[in-house]
Amino acid sequence: MADTLRTLLGEAECEVLDSQLKDGAEVKLTHVENIPVSAELYWSAFRDFIELQLNWKRHENLKVLKGDGGVGTEISFYYNLLDLKDGQRTQRLREKNDSTRTWSVEEVGTNNLYRSYLMTIKVEETEAALARVTISVCFVSAIKNEKERRHDIVYHKVYLLGARLRDILNFVVREKLDGKHRFEMDVVCSRRKLWGVVGNFHNVSWVMGTTHAEATGLRRLMYFHNGRTLEVRLAWVDDSDYLFVYEGDNSPDVLHCKYYRGRLQLFAVNPHKVKVVYDCTFLPVNDEPLEEFKQWFIPAIKTRFDWIQGKFGESSLAADKIAADSNEPATLETTSDDLPDEDDGPPVESKLYEGDEQLTTKGDRGFTTGLRSMAKGAMGWARANVQGLVAAPMGPPKFTKGAHTTIASDNVMGPVEEVWSVFRPFGRDCMEYWKIYDSMEIEAPGNDVQGCIRAFVTSKTKSKIRERLEWRDDEAHVEIYSLLSMDPSPPVEMTNVYTTVTMTAVGEKETEVKFECTFDAGLPIAVPSIQDNQKGAYMACIHGLQQLFHSEVGTLEVVVRGASNLAVSGDKYKVDPYVMLVANDGKPAITKVCRGTQHPIWDERFALSLTSRTRNIVFTVMDYNKSKDIGTSIVDIAELTSGKEETMSLDLQGGGTLNVRLYLKVHQKPKQLEGGEKVIPGIMLPFIAPVFQSELDTIRNEFTHLIMSFLGPGQKYGLTNTARLRSHPEVPLEEMPAACIPLPTEEMFSPVKIGRLMQRLAEFIASQAQIMMRYAQAKRQGMWDPWKANFSGYLPANEKLIETWQNDEEFCRQFLQGINPMLLTVCKEQSQIPASMLGLRAQDKTALQLMEENRLFIVDYAPMLGAPPTPGKFFYAPIVLMYKEELAGGKSRLNMLGIQLTRKTGKNKVYSPETAKTHPNKYMFAKMHVMSADNNVHQFLYHLGYTHLGMEPIAVSLHTHLPPDHPIHRLLLPHFKDTIGINYLARHSLVSRIFPITDPMFATSTVGGLHMFIKEWRKYRFMDMAFPEELKRRGFDEEKSDGLEDYYFRDDGFKLWNIYKDYVTGVVEAAYLSDKDVVADEALQQFCQMIEGPGQLHGFPREISNKQLLIDCLTNIIFNVSAQHSAVNFPQYDYYSFIPNRPAQLKMEMPHGPNDMLESAILEALPDVKFTSLQVLLSYMLSMPTQTAITEMEAVKKLYPDVHETFHAQLLDLSNDIKGRNEGLKGEGKVAYTYLDPENVAMSIDI
Ligand SMILES: [Fe+2]
Repeated sequence: MADTLRTLLGEAECEVLDSQLKDGAEVKLTHVENIPVSAELYWSAFRDFIELQLNWKRHENLKVLKGDGGVGTEISFYYNLLDLKDGQRTQRLREKNDSTRTWSVEEVGTNNLYRSYLMTIKVEETEAALARVTISVCFVSAIKNEKERRHDIVYHKVYLLGARLRDILNFVVREKLDGKHRFEMDVVCSRRKLWGVVGNFHNVSWVMGTTHAEATGLRRLMYFHNGRTLEVRLAWVDDSDYLFVYEGDNSPDVLHCKYYRGRLQLFAVNPHKVKVVYDCTFLPVNDEPLEEFKQWFIPAIKTRFDWIQGKFGESSLAADKIAADSNEPATLETTSDDLPDEDDGPPVESKLYEGDEQLTTKGDRGFTTGLRSMAKGAMGWARANVQGLVAAPMGPPKFTKGAHTTIASDNVMGPVEEVWSVFRPFGRDCMEYWKIYDSMEIEAPGNDVQGCIRAFVTSKTKSKIRERLEWRDDEAHVEIYSLLSMDPSPPVEMTNVYTTVTMTAVGEKETEVKFECTFDAGLPIAVPSIQDNQKGAYMACIHGLQQLFHSEVGTLEVVVRGASNLAVSGDKYKVDPYVMLVANDGKPAITKVCRGTQHPIWDERFALSLTSRTRNIVFTVMDYNKSKDIGTSIVDIAELTSGKEETMSLDLQGGGTLNVRLYLKVHQKPKQLEGGEKVIPGIMLPFIAPVFQSELDTIRNEFTHLIMSFLGPGQKYGLTNTARLRSHPEVPLEEMPAACIPLPTEEMFSPVKIGRLMQRLAEFIASQAQIMMRYAQAKRQGMWDPWKANFSGYLPANEKLIETWQNDEEFCRQFLQGINPMLLTVCKEQSQIPASMLGLRAQDKTALQLMEENRLFIVDYAPMLGAPPTPGKFFYAPIVLMYKEELAGGKSRLNMLGIQLTRKTGKNKVYSPETAKTHPNKYMFAKMHVMSADNNVHQFLYHLGYTHLGMEPIAVSLHTHLPPDHPIHRLLLPHFKDTIGINYLARHSLVSRIFPITDPMFATSTVGGLHMFIKEWRKYRFMDMAFPEELKRRGFDEEKSDGLEDYYFRDDGFKLWNIYKDYVTGVVEAAYLSDKDVVADEALQQFCQMIEGPGQLHGFPREISNKQLLIDCLTNIIFNVSAQHSAVNFPQYDYYSFIPNRPAQLKMEMPHGPNDMLESAILEALPDVKFTSLQVLLSYMLSMPTQTAITEMEAVKKLYPDVHETFHAQLLDLSNDIKGRNEGLKGEGKVAYTYLDPENVAMSIDI
């Protein structure tokens, strides 16, 4: 938040004493201000600390830790939400003395910003209506960097102290005096366009009657046509919220106020219409009664306000037409950024200040008559002039065309709107695709609008270059920028350097990107080299965009026929050749293996996807048995002719000849669709089908490749840390649990298992052939019908879920019995509840009362804060409150209290069943965002992270340190069957660095999900995550003291845990006579050390000193890899397969603004069909029932038959109990919980 302000503060002229800058120095700063209300009134703001905080901006995710607003009340908040570790602060109200009117808060404990911090405010009476307020801070900074420490002091001196006092004044004037008014209006232009003007502190073209402005730091002096000036101060600006707040004091003849604050916020109604909400706070200069003042003041403001409508809007008829043409409902409320053109044309300041020349001449009401007269006369003028202003032609700036031109263009395989929106940022964001810069920033004041200047450093030459954005037209997709300076200066003088970038749609999914630069050069002979340099830079941009859009420009069909005279190495073996072929930027394809021949015949056909960057294809003949290559050959794609088949005999480097047939097919421009082909809005069948096919082919190839690569080098088990990705060097993948690489042959899947996996895959692919037909035929009576098309005769539908998923009770039930029963927590501390949710009520109780009655439950998705934002996907870190609803007959159930999606400053929006009465769609959408967050947290943390990856080091250490006849080896061995293999598969498919299929699927994308996991993994402690401990931490226990019914994960889990513990106790007691024996077991101790050390499984005991610890540790291991994994793995298909119930991602954030959203907007926000079919496929494959249930286990049957028998019998008893209970549930029409029935619990993490 404060970043923008900090930028504006820039290198503010501000003296900072050397003594204050020393590390550990106590910094004392004081600021005094006369506040234009009485001391008593001003002091009244301090009555309730919590209320004051909620109305006090700048603190994000405010929570009340204790207290009710009086002295001793503690609050916590984040200084910077994106950096939790560094940003969290806790403050306590230390003093509130009504007689001396002194108030102070202090920091509780230390944090990364301050070692100590004390802020004191003292309010003194001077005259009747004037308070003299002194604010002082005394702090010791904890910031290590001296420059940043200085910046923080400047920030306090120049901005924060005064802003604090005026925030309080604003609160008093609004809430105690009612000196406020809200204006709302729709302007027919895009939000981005209007924000481009309003959000630019230098731009006053939206202030009626101004000529220009001069901005210095946070102050802006505005000049009016009549020669008057008015100074205002920036109070707040937030680009992400399209929010701008400014204030002015004491301007009797202009504002007629001794205090004025304008808060202007923009909401998108649709891509072509913006709702402007303007809240103003005012205090009349002459203390006239507010009611009287408002009578003329509000209409006067409105005049100015309306002027904006005329100035920036187009006629509303035109807007309706635009909306109609684009099939967008005119009332659709959306926050998506729309793309109409943006002009920085002449400005306006929503407030009223003086009239302008036109007004004076035309309207006989000079500014000298002030606002009062304007209120009476100006409106007519404003309306009359609307037409003239709108009609004024606007176009790109005229510039001198240079004598020379450089042109670079190529196509990007993406829709023009999408390509443009990626390209569009003028500042740092373009480094995402334009990878030739070391740095790039928009110069302060940092708004990405027309007129802004970017400064960048090129990686190659380290030149510092500045360019100005001269023109940007989001509708025509045109941008013009000019070169301002280069440092060092180029050897040849260049002038009139203007670059025009144009994007043109050449098809539904293809865009031509064209750069055209005109310039004059001092030395004509240098022109070609300038042009080469420019062209290189432009093409780097286009290539970057192509890379982002994975543009396929064609396909290459390859038939690998055979080879002759292949080389053999040595003379002991014949070769078993196969061919791997790779387009230079693609994934490899592999032929079958021909056994024992130097003259193999494969005759296999492959289709390789070519991108514009594909230059060649590499054929490598490999020897299957020795995993080494026999020979390679490279074909240059440029030598092939599109549409013509070519037969080639390639000489292999290494000896022999490879015979191939190649058929290159470069894509034609997509044909126009016939009217009838558009089946469902947004889904074009002819385009979707190939996407499906290519994705499925890729998966199939990936799996085939994996199965082939199972032939590893031997039996050795070793741990390796994951290397960082070149594409995301900032993500410390080496911190993940260590992995077993390479895959030992022992860990290959059995042919049966591979067969089952492949069978599911094949079945699914077959079912996909029909999926588009079913989509097309899906009944369109209900809005969710298209999603049912995923189900067919082959893929069963969860009918009950489809019927009930929208109900609150079902939503809550899933936290108890669904795929992720790991987050629900008994809410016992007020500090857990966000301040904005304290007002929620149910069954006549407040949230706090529910908490006191042990009936309040919370789910906090804070881990999602650890995932960086992903373009095109929106996710939150929601907080959900639920309560135990008392029902008739002593029954109860979990039900919904409310959802808070954001953790922003001040009040956050809360969605509750109450909201649903007026805004049912927004409420539904909030619940979907919760489930989307749950989906990501479940998969990356609780499933992949804490079970699959987290447990792998134990498997490796087991094989490394415990001999096969060791009793603990025998005990554990079946619990690690196939774990290394399935993880290998996951690493190479689900989260592979080559082809991460989770990437498009999840809101966080793969890297974001892993990033989130790594942040949580740092806090993970194995023994603290043991089932009883983990539940206890969340407020649940075996005795059900939490009072919650139907939490079967808890109930069945404790029973299973106890059986496991008995079993493990039996084994340990039989294997070790005493604690001493345990300590003396060197193999066991080394087993532990490897897990905790190189394995990076945090919190695993490094040393086992007694039998009890060994029992606890082994029980924990066995429970985790069997019951825990089963509980978070096998329900996947039940809950993930119906996409609206648990979307893995959503494309839209919650719309702002006062209206409900449309159902169609929810549908639009759901992920594309191609991604959802992957979600269904994955959940289906991963939910395959286990073939190795724990009831089948025979680990210690021979070694300790009694222990085994007891264990086995207890499991069967429990299974019977659970089956009986489930029958009863079904009889009541409820959902059975089957996942922890021992017959369904897999021995190991094997899927
Ligand atoms: Fe799994």
